[in-house]
Amino acid sequence: MEKLMIAGGYPLKGTVRISGAKNSAVALIPATILAESPVTIEGLPDISDVQILKDLLEEIGGTVEFTENDMTVDPSSMISMPLPNGKVKKLRASYYLMGAMLGRFKKAVIGLPGGCHLGPRPIDQHIKGFEALGARVTNEQGAIYLRADELRGARIYLDVVSVGATINIMLAAVRAKGRTIIENAAKEPEIIDVATLLTNMGAKIKGAGTDVIRIDGVDHLQGCQHTIIPDRIEAGTYMIVGAAAGEGVLIDNVIPHHLESLIAKLREMGVQVETNDDQVFVGPAEKMKAVDIKTLVYPGFPTDLQQPLTSLLTGAEGTSMVTDTIYSARFKHIDELRRMNANIKVEGRSAIINGPIQLQGAKVKASDLRAGAALVIAGLMAEGVTEVTGLEHIDRGYSHLVEKLNGLGATIWREEMTEEELEQMKNA
Ligand code: EPU
Repeated sequence: MEKLMIAGGYPLKGTVRISGAKNSAVALIPATILAESPVTIEGLPDISDVQILKDLLEEIGGTVEFTENDMTVDPSSMISMPLPNGKVKKLRASYYLMGAMLGRFKKAVIGLPGGCHLGPRPIDQHIKGFEALGARVTNEQGAIYLRADELRGARIYLDVVSVGATINIMLAAVRAKGRTIIENAAKEPEIIDVATLLTNMGAKIKGAGTDVIRIDGVDHLQGCQHTIIPDRIEAGTYMIVGAAAGEGVLIDNVIPHHLESLIAKLREMGVQVETNDDQVFVGPAEKMKAVDIKTLVYPGFPTDLQQPLTSLLTGAEGTSMVTDTIYSARFKHIDELRRMNANIKVEGRSAIINGPIQLQGAKVKASDLRAGAALVIAGLMAEGVTEVTGLEHIDRGYSHLVEKLNGLGATIWREEMTEEELEQMKNA
């Protein structure tokens, strides 16, 4: 097992290219199940979640070719194989196999998903949607069993605005009979990306990106070619890196419109941010000011950037308050930041950060993906060397993180953990 070593304090400069969006990729890959001929997705990120989904498609009989970042899936020989255990447990997004397999085979057995521990993450809205479409859904020993004689379009109002439920219901509804209307749908760019793929496959979807999505079911979907959107959360992470340790960082292959809430907050902090069609430039701040942040559904401030931004705010003058309205327990990075000398306390759903503080290198542990990003940013800001364990979380979502940061002039490397460290981790 490896850990990440970061020698802090090196000024970063240059250009970093953003990969395809993880949270699109993990839905686009299962969506290929719904087609009857090969689908090609171009520009996928090189992350472990993509690899696991590829393996899962092969487990159910798909033929998958994956070279560099392009994946071609031939779904014609797939069968509705039960997947109650194993790799489905390794990622949250395996729940998209439910919607896609239900849509194609009218049945599916999928183990309850894994993923980052951020507080309770129920899937009741997904299930409510499947049931409204005519499926019988039961939970048997940690696996969800779905079965329908036929799927019929329905009007579904989501009680909670959910990215996963919106996409999953779209996947199940595109081959249902008649019209489905999803009300109070989530509006994230990844939903539009999935709807674009499905539309290119022959689905009839209107309103993706608004809070009412209308789907007219079709009998057949065929293969197509699709290029994934850039990862707005990876881009946002590098924008924060630029603000934290940069002397001018250009983030390339971005849709700046997807990042308006972060751009506004960075500017409010005094950070120089310029945008053009597909790039964002982040210049150094003379002095950063504290700001308050509340995470919200898109286009509000994304919960996925809350943790990375918290690290940056340790260097800002004054008191900042970061409130996460989406996840109640997305604060596991705070204890680790405190080990690095940060002055932060957590009260309910808020973190209160007093700055500016000079962070110090320390041994810290990433408990989830974005906590990992937050600790890497803190390590770049810190004096001395920071060791980050829990790398498997970071590898789930950041493509070539070490190479990209070193390309900007950082000093960061992976190192094998010693026997003693592994033993300590086991007993922790
Ligand atoms: N919720 C329910 N019931 C449901 C579904 C969601 O109560 O049936 C609640 C959740 O507990 C949460 C809120 O609704 O409080 C929003 O959850 P949502 O369903 O939108 O989240 P998700 O689809 O499970 C995706 C991303 C997350 C990101 C959230 C919010 C994927 C695979 N994951 O999760 O990404 O934080 O949307 O934007 O797309 C990450 O990338 O680090 C990550 C965790």
